[in-house]
Amino acid sequence: GRGGGIVIAIDGPSGSGKSSTSRGVARRLGLRYLDTGAQYRAMTWWMLEHGVDLADGEAVAAASLLPRLASATDPDGYGITVDGRVLVDEIRTGAVDAAVSKVAGVRAVRTRLIEAQRECVRTAVAEGVGIVVEGRDIAEVVWPIAPVKVYLTADQAVRAARREAEHAGAGRGTEAAATLAELARRDAEDAKTTRPLDAAPGAVVVDGTHLSLDEVVEEIVRLAKGQ
Ligand code: DC
Repeated sequence: GRGGGIVIAIDGPSGSGKSSTSRGVARRLGLRYLDTGAQYRAMTWWMLEHGVDLADGEAVAAASLLPRLASATDPDGYGITVDGRVLVDEIRTGAVDAAVSKVAGVRAVRTRLIEAQRECVRTAVAEGVGIVVEGRDIAEVVWPIAPVKVYLTADQAVRAARREAEHAGAGRGTEAAATLAELARRDAEDAKTTRPLDAAPGAVVVDGTHLSLDEVVEEIVRLAKGQ
């Protein structure tokens, strides 16, 4: 690929446009793409399916060893397979949204997923393809040696409006005020585990509040080419 073995870490809070941006950057530069949030969501979906008591941290830790997870890394494909089943809409439900921060806060869950994420990055680097990795803790924990680190954010009201549009597109219309409240709750819950509202050391802050998706992608492509 044209990007060589480059690693681009893109972190940011819910609704910052990370997924669309990260896919766009990967396409533009011919890189692989890894959505780490989808892995936490898939793990959560599996726990809900299997009736794991999410209030019991030890039960969550024990159960986290069981699902077989496989992440595809094609920016145009569907990302995640759990026990042989491709999950798409299943990991974007209100039930998963409500539970995922709790599951992501269990150390054993993070240990397992972070190691899987690192293996995926190692493979892309070793194969000389390069990869865009999006999440909350990529630049700080998963791959602190990434040559390009981006902290993508936007005003909370703008992030809520974008989430709202996504929900409407998925036939899950909600009240704007409820979406904003839910986003604020997620920011606060996620902040117990990662630092969704702070840029990692060495990260370039990209504020998408007044930028289009194309403009944000362009900015990150420019940063990557400057490497
Ligand atoms: O980016 P997202 O909304 O799909 O992420 C889903 C959840 O997973 C979010 O509540 C925070 C958590 N997460 C995390 O703790 N660490 C990551 N690297 C990615 C996501």
